[in-house]
This record gives sequence, C-alpha cells and structure tokens, in this order.
Amino acid sequence: MDMKLIEVKGYQEMSARAAEYIAHKVRISKKITLGLATGGTPEGTYRNLIEDHRQNYTSYRHVTTFNLDEYVGLAGDHLNSYRYFMNKKLFDHIDIQKSNTYVPRGHVLDIEQECLDYEKLLIDHGGIDMQLLGIGSNGHIGFNEPGTPFDSETHVVELTPSTREANARYFSSLEQVPTKAISMGIATILKAKEILLLVSGENKSEALAQLLEGEITEKNPASVLKIHPFVTVIADHAALSASKVRC
Ligand code: PGA
Repeated sequence: MDMKLIEVKGYQEMSARAAEYIAHKVRISKKITLGLATGGTPEGTYRNLIEDHRQNYTSYRHVTTFNLDEYVGLAGDHLNSYRYFMNKKLFDHIDIQKSNTYVPRGHVLDIEQECLDYEKLLIDHGGIDMQLLGIGSNGHIGFNEPGTPFDSETHVVELTPSTREANARYFSSLEQVPTKAISMGIATILKAKEILLLVSGENKSEALAQLLEGEITEKNPASVLKIHPFVTVIADHAALSASKVRC
C-alpha cells in the first residue's frame, strides 16, 4: 500500500495540515488543477486557505478546479447546491477566476449529457493534479455509493438513505434532500495524479478501518484508493479509533 498516513489530534489540526499542503502545491506550481470536495470535512481546510490567501498572498490565478459532485435538480444559486457552497466557502474569498472553477451542473435538461461533458472537460484540461477527498460513513467517495463499479466515469447516482440522512442537516427536512446526484466516477477519481484524503471524527472510524485494513472491493468504494500510487491520508485520533494501523 503506497498510502501515507498522517495522524493528527483533531479536526482543526487536520484542516491546518491539509491547507498547508494544498497552499504549498499552489505556490510552487505554474499551473495546477485541483479536484475539490464539499461537506463538513473540507470546510475547515477552506477557511485556512482563505486565511493563508489573506496573510501570505497565495494566489489562485493559475488554478483550475473541478468539484466531485452536485445534487441533481439544484441550480447553482440554490443555497444547498455544491456550486453555492464552493462560492461561499472558498471561491468568493480568493483570487481564483470563477470561469476556471467547474462544478457539475445539476439543473440541466440533459443530465446524462452533462456527465459526458464533465468528463470531457476534465480530459481537455489535462486531468486533475491533486484531488481532495472526504469519505462517507458508508465508505463512499464523491457520491459513489457502495456497489459502484470501479470503472465508472462521471455518472448519475441514486443517493442511499444513509447518505441522504447524513446530509439532511443542511436542509430544512429529509424530504428536501435530493434523491440523485452527479458524481465523478471511481475511475475518474483514480485518474488524479495525487489524492489527499481527509478523515475526522468517530463516525468515520469504521469506514477508515475498512479502508486501511479491509479488502479491496466495490462494496467499499474507498478501498480502491489502495491501488492508487500517490495517496496521503490525514486522519484524526477519533477517525483512527477503530484501526489497528497507526503511524
Ligand atoms: P462530510 O461528508 O465531509 O460532510 O462528512 C463526507 C462525504 O460524504 O464524502
């Protein structure tokens, strides 16, 4: 396993380490394409990146970003869309050109075509240099739920009840949570040259133990990361509490 595991105390340290790692890459590159994620896990990282941009003037003018996923049915200005999340939590506060930020469009008539177009856009941009990832408590990466084929490209997914329940905290009720999403596929994610996986909290400990110690199987989407040549995991004590592997 080529995975590098960095154990940290908690969420704050994870976020600070991840932001340092990303900001460093951005500073030393002439041109870089980042794969980004949404949700509770990367929020702290984005806060730190904004702080770093303000204090150290790290510039994003040469950066292109591709997000992992988006809810089907939500337009980019919907408060719960991932486009809106990215604008508010990161893009509006750094000097990135919005035209260089890509999030799948969930509110288009031909959603299948959007998947094909997104995959092609990624190829046209030369692929992702570094993909930031979180993990679901059921082992999903992006919105690739258990059972997703490892050779999948950007596709429409049916969200599992557990994922909808986990994300209901952002909506006024469970019924409001969309049932479908567009997600980069597992094969799409694996094409990234480098992957940075962030894991925090006890509720992710089983999923992380499965990834570190379990077999590689489509039943556990994150397990595929073990075949990628360049993965760094930053995980806190609570997330590692069910794992025997420690650094
Ligand atoms: P979270 O979600 O960061 O909100 O916990 C992670 C994921 O579902 O991939």
